[in-house]
Amino acid sequence: MIGIILGTRPEIIKMSPVIRECERRGLDYFILHTGQHYSYEMDRLFFEELELPDPDYNLDVGSGSQASQTAKIMTGVEDVLVKEAPDLILVQGDTNTVMAGALAASKLHVRVGHIEAGLRSFNRLMPEEINRILTDHMSDYLFAPTENARKNLLAEGIADRRICVTGNTVVDAVYQNLDISRKKVSVLKDLDLKSREYFLVTAHRQENVDNRARLKEILRGLLGVQKEFALPVVFPVHPRTEKRIKELGIGIDGLNFTKPFGFLEFLQLESQAKAVLTDSGGVQEETCVLGVPCATMRYDTERPETLNVGSNVLVGADSRKILEGVRFAVTRKPGWENPYGDGIAGKMIVMVCVAAQSQ
Ligand code: UD1
Ligand code: UDP
Repeated sequence: MIGIILGTRPEIIKMSPVIRECERRGLDYFILHTGQHYSYEMDRLFFEELELPDPDYNLDVGSGSQASQTAKIMTGVEDVLVKEAPDLILVQGDTNTVMAGALAASKLHVRVGHIEAGLRSFNRLMPEEINRILTDHMSDYLFAPTENARKNLLAEGIADRRICVTGNTVVDAVYQNLDISRKKVSVLKDLDLKSREYFLVTAHRQENVDNRARLKEILRGLLGVQKEFALPVVFPVHPRTEKRIKELGIGIDGLNFTKPFGFLEFLQLESQAKAVLTDSGGVQEETCVLGVPCATMRYDTERPETLNVGSNVLVGADSRKILEGVRFAVTRKPGWENPYGDGIAGKMIVMVCVAAQSQ
């Protein structure tokens, strides 16, 4: 039996190809949702849109400090793993759910497969960087999306035989859902937007939005973009960011704030945008796959492949650099190489898991 542990929006999206493959093969597996994300538009909406089976367990851990959320996830995961005794568990990415799930499993001697292993920003101030490093070193199967990720793992002394380069499941998710999105949703029409005549923004990184000065700079930069290009700036706001913007109480007229979108709507908005501004990991990858220029509002990235192929540019959290970065991004001609694989990562990962069960 395979245990799939997930807890946040990007994990639901990037695990969806793996879940679909488990379903297609009729495997014995269960889904354990930690409840790290719980608002309808950060959680349930994705199970509905992507037609995923309901989780078998939901720990309902909710929000909290780093330590308390991690501790709650660990104790909840331990109970379920003792009851279900899976052959191995799968986690995806770099959230507290991932690190706590992997730690609880490895202490019970349940094998761990880490999807999206080997990413490094080399910035240990990010909670995600700590989660990635720890999870990689606890894992038995490291599913690295790229050769570069594999090299990062080897440089830390992780044995090559534990690593399998699969591509990123985000490509599977984009390929599997782009057509469905075209058929099922008409978000541009609903928002009165024209193709390539708007910018799309997301921002939720703790180091950006929990820092008042940086959040102000980012909003100033976005207003600068809106003014210079005289185009709508559509900003679906993550709940963490919504809370912080309300606390700031600064004028944000000119930006089109909305609730977070479902994946089908967001994919459509991303694929038709003039450029995307973000601090999200998944959005840097998706824009690269979709051929849409991206400006990343951070000073480093664990997705250097996007910089190397030229889909992405780092603009930090400085209003002037944000505007300069967007001026540059809009001149980029799509046609760059997709470094994240052919969209069969989910199948490869499940194949390895099935083979592992018989060992
Ligand atoms: C988490 C992950 C981050 C990932 C992001 C995906 C960690 C350390 N961080 O960050 O790596 O990129 O998810 O979106 O694991 N909130 C709600 N409803 C929800 C979820 C959160 O209102 O469904 C609000 C709460 O006020 C909460 C805040 O958002 O305190 C932050 O949530 P949390 O899960 O701690 O971190 P994220 O910023 O979502
Ligand atoms: N996303 C979405 N709706 C939105 C914003 C983002 O469906 O309104 C999707 C996006 O397509 C990507 C994922 O959420 O697949 C990225 O999640 P997030 O930025 O929260 O986390 P990160 O990737 O930074 O960990």
